[in-house]
Amino acid sequence: MALNLLNLSILFVLLNIINPFPFAEPRTLEASTTPFSKTLQNLRGVHRGQNAKGVGELRGYLQKYGYLTKGSSSNDNFDENVESALKHYQAFHHLRDTGVVDDDTIKKMSLPRCGMPDIITNPNPNPNGLVGAPENYTFFPGSPKWSKFFLTYRRTSGATVSINETAVRRAMRDAFQSWANVSPFTFNETTDRSADITYGFHRGLHLDLYPFDGPGRVLAHAFAPEDGRIHFDADELWRSNGSDIDFQTVGLHELGHSLGLGHSNDTDAVMQPNYDGQRRSLSQDDIDGIQALYGQN
Ligand SMILES: *[C@@H]1O[C@H](CO)[C@@H](O)[C@H](O)[C@H]1NC(C)=O
Ligand SMILES: *[C@@H]1O[C@H](CO)[C@@H](O)[C@H](O)[C@H]1NC(C)=O
Ligand SMILES: *[C@@H]1O[C@H](CO)[C@@H](O)[C@H](O)[C@H]1NC(C)=O
Ligand SMILES: *[C@@H]1O[C@H](CO)[C@@H](O)[C@H](O)[C@H]1NC(C)=O
Ligand SMILES: *[C@@H]1O[C@H](CO)[C@@H](O)[C@H](O)[C@H]1NC(C)=O
Ligand SMILES: [Zn+2]
Ligand SMILES: [Zn+2]
Repeated sequence: MALNLLNLSILFVLLNIINPFPFAEPRTLEASTTPFSKTLQNLRGVHRGQNAKGVGELRGYLQKYGYLTKGSSSNDNFDENVESALKHYQAFHHLRDTGVVDDDTIKKMSLPRCGMPDIITNPNPNPNGLVGAPENYTFFPGSPKWSKFFLTYRRTSGATVSINETAVRRAMRDAFQSWANVSPFTFNETTDRSADITYGFHRGLHLDLYPFDGPGRVLAHAFAPEDGRIHFDADELWRSNGSDIDFQTVGLHELGHSLGLGHSNDTDAVMQPNYDGQRRSLSQDDIDGIQALYGQN
C-alpha cells in the first residue's frame, strides 16, 4: 500500500536517492556486547588520523543522528569526516567542539535519547516572522504540518510494558493537553481505527525500518505530519512518577514530532533530543516553534 507510506518514510526514500541519508539505513538488531558508553570510554582522547577499535561504532552513531552522511560503521579510521561530524555534534549540544571524544562528549552520548536524527531538520524558516524568538526549534524538511486542528488519537495495543495502562493513558492525555494549551489544536481520544495519531509500545524489530535496541539508548520515535505514528521502545523502564524513564516526558517530546517539530538545540526545550530527567512542561522555545508552524490558540 504505497499510499499508506508515511511522509517520513517517503521522504527518507527520496533523501536516500538524492543524498544517502543515514537513517534510511535500518540498524541491525544485534546489539554490540559492549555498551556504547564503554566504547566511548575506550575512545577517550582518540583524534583525527588515528585508527582505534570503536571508531566505527562512533561513526554509526553520528550517522544515525544526521551528523554524517557517508561511511561504514566497520571503518575504524578516525578520519576528517568523523572529526567534523563530531565537532558538529558537540556544537549542537553546546559542548566544546574539540573534535575529540572527551569527558563531556562521553557523558552526553551516553544519555538515552530520541531515535530521530538531530540534523534532518530544516533550520527554522520562521514563516510567521516572529521577531525576537530564539529560533532554536526546527521543522522537518519542507515543514510538513497538519491541515486540520481537530485531531483524534488512539492507544494501539502492543508489547507489555513496565508501566500500567491507566498511567500510560493519563500521561498521554496530559501531554496532548500541554500542546493543546499553546496551539490551535484540540485532541480527542478515540478507539476508532481512523485516529489521526496513534501511539504504542514496540520491541526490537517492529512495523517500520527503525528497530528498537533494548533497554537504554533509543527510547522512542515518531513520524512527521500527517503520519501520526508514535512508537515507544517497550524494553525501557517506563515510569509515571518521574523516576527511571518518565513516560510523560518522552510522550510530550514525541508528540512534538507528530505535530511537525524537529529537534531543538535549546537545552531547555522539550524538543532537545536527550533524556536527562523529567520534563513535563513546554519551554518558550517549544511554544515559539509550534506557534510559528500553526499560529496561536
Ligand atoms: C541552534 O539552532 C539554530 C537554529 O536552527 C542555529 O541557527 C544555530 O546555529 C544552532 N546552534 C548550534 C550551536 O548548533
Ligand atoms: C497505575 O498507575 C496509577 C498512576 O501512577 C496509579 O494511581 C494506580 O494505582 C496504578 N494501578 C495499578 C493497578 O497498579
Ligand atoms: C471529544 O470527546 C468528548 C468526550 O469524549 C466528546 O464529548 C466530544 O463530542 C468529542 N468531540 C468531538 C468533536 O468528537
Ligand atoms: C517510582 O515507581 C517505581 C516503581 O513502582 C518505584 O520503584 C520508585 O521508587 C518510584 N520512585 C519515586 C520517586 O517515587
Ligand atoms: C539556542 O539555545 C541556546 C542554549 O539553550 C542559547 O544559548 C542560544 O542563544 C539559542 N539560540 C541560538 C540561535 O542558538
Ligand atoms: Zn525526538
Ligand atoms: Zn517504530
